[in-house]
Amino acid sequence: MTDIHFPPGFLFGAATSAYQIEGGWDADGKGPSIWDHFARRPGRIHRDHTGDVACNTYFDFQTDVEIMRQLGLDAYRFSVAWPRVLPEGRGAVNEKGLDYYDRLVDALLDAGIQPFVTLFHWDLPLALQRDMGGFDSRDCATLFADYAEVVGRRLGDRVKHWITLNEPWVHATLGHLRGMHAPGRLNPRAYLRVIHHQLLGHGLAAARLKALDGAAQVGISLNLSPFYSASDRPLDRAAAERGDLIINRLFLDPLLRGHYPAALWNRLGPLRPKVATGDMAIIAHPLDFLGVNYYTRVRVRHAWYVPLLRLWPHELPGPAASRRADDERYSQMGWEVYPAGLYELLFRLKQEYGNPALYVTENGAAYPDTLTAAGRVHDEARRRYLEQHLAVVAAAARAGVDVRGYFAWSLIDNFEWTYGYDRRFGLVYVDHETQRRVIKDSGYWYRDVIRQRALALP
Ligand code: FCB
Repeated sequence: MTDIHFPPGFLFGAATSAYQIEGGWDADGKGPSIWDHFARRPGRIHRDHTGDVACNTYFDFQTDVEIMRQLGLDAYRFSVAWPRVLPEGRGAVNEKGLDYYDRLVDALLDAGIQPFVTLFHWDLPLALQRDMGGFDSRDCATLFADYAEVVGRRLGDRVKHWITLNEPWVHATLGHLRGMHAPGRLNPRAYLRVIHHQLLGHGLAAARLKALDGAAQVGISLNLSPFYSASDRPLDRAAAERGDLIINRLFLDPLLRGHYPAALWNRLGPLRPKVATGDMAIIAHPLDFLGVNYYTRVRVRHAWYVPLLRLWPHELPGPAASRRADDERYSQMGWEVYPAGLYELLFRLKQEYGNPALYVTENGAAYPDTLTAAGRVHDEARRRYLEQHLAVVAAAARAGVDVRGYFAWSLIDNFEWTYGYDRRFGLVYVDHETQRRVIKDSGYWYRDVIRQRALALP
């Protein structure tokens, strides 16, 4: 056995988000979110599941905090539901909503767990979507900063790590371009505006949080994936380059270099969103850390028909339909298990973007778990997935990458967006009928890693 160690102070955590776990969708004065609305539209979500009840965390967070204590987590990343705090998205504050997060933060700190608070994990107040098109409107950026300030004032004496946005690419692309996520739009003109306005909201919110507490650490979580060309053909290579531009550099460049990548910008033509003087400086507000959400790599090839000004490379289909269900090279999402991609990504951030402080804010895998008669969940594939990716994080740290922590996605099985409750990512199994929790083998394994602060590899 070899022990693989992590840098001093490295944080081992787990992550969730509000809509995916809280339930209590209209409890104590909470306003509806675009996800409450979207999930009710028939046919949008697997078996028309909704997050109305989810994991019931709004009514019982203590059980989960107790589990986190048993696992020995250093940190917990959760999100605040904007419409719980501001039912209309702006204006009147719902104190009861804020109280909930206040109690959650206290319970975490009592258990010795540092809160990492995400402010927007896609559950926009429905009123803002109806009144102004959500982040399609520039005003939404300012309203987001106002909301961040409300939460910062209430929790900022105890919360030291903030994540403004989770995966702005996903909200814009799946929500406003491809119609698969709330708000369910298919609008190629809107979606780049939604990206720009989210980034603007991030910068404005970051400045407000830092004004409240100069010592607060403020970051953003991006879904980043290395792109690989299907072949050496120049056309395929160009497709991979475009994929990298539209998923990775579209966010990394403005945040860390202060401008959109010219190679992309020049091709956008009429889709180019309006950028006002000063916007780029706001967006490039110095980041205290960058959150990296990594699940898989993307392999692409050129296609003659590609929508949206040939910006989208053609993604290679995942595993063939004939793939065996137990083929461990792919998770149940059909995502290839490719830990080397995480190394490549972390190392690239060091080399090309000035070695920013990093946290892996999401990483994990869905597999079809079953509860045995003895009440155990033997999820060896997930355990191995986590082990391989943690080993890569440790290797990146040894290579000089400033990576400070790792959050497994997810603490508990939860509402996986369009897949409803049909995909399980948790370290902890949830029986969605009874809300009973069972720590999976991967959860016990993670506990031991945290205790030893090292991975023991054969
Ligand atoms: C990410 C989301 C997270 C979860 C995982 C599987 O894109 O941020 O909420 O759904 O994927």
